[in-house]
Amino acid sequence: MAIRPILVAPDPVLKQKSLPVEGPVTDAHRRLMDDMLETMYDAPGIGLAAIQIGEPLRIIVMDLAREGDPPEPRYFVNPEILESTETTLPYEEGCLSVPEVFEEVQRPDKVRLRYLDYNGKPVEEEASGLYAVCIQHEMDHLEGVLFIDRISRLKRENAMRKLKKARKEAAL
Ligand code: NI
Repeated sequence: MAIRPILVAPDPVLKQKSLPVEGPVTDAHRRLMDDMLETMYDAPGIGLAAIQIGEPLRIIVMDLAREGDPPEPRYFVNPEILESTETTLPYEEGCLSVPEVFEEVQRPDKVRLRYLDYNGKPVEEEASGLYAVCIQHEMDHLEGVLFIDRISRLKRENAMRKLKKARKEAAL
């Protein structure tokens, strides 16, 4: 396993659409998922899409376990949302590719999804609460969409300014 650099907005790679994994889930995909998980834990974060480390594949890792609880890694290959509720809930989101920015985003509060797991086994399940927020946020990455694309223009411009300032300070 290896910790890989996380791309930060406005890196144009983050705007790319990720491609589906064709054929079975292989050891190469599992190695990528292992790297993604290690990178996410190191950051630390609760979700990461492959494109955030520059790999344009429809692969996501996540761990929503509370601090101090045993880890609960989850892996998603080719996730699809089959159904989502009309009711939405606000949640203050952040993103490893948009450091130091936290803004409220409205999303459906429950979704039904289908994906392949770490071993390539198909899974269909319902997500609600933080799980629903996180999987929708990560699936946005697969389309080249960041959570700041879902907030008002004014807030987005403020966020980008903050991001630039933080980068400049980090470079000093
Ligand atoms: Ni993100």
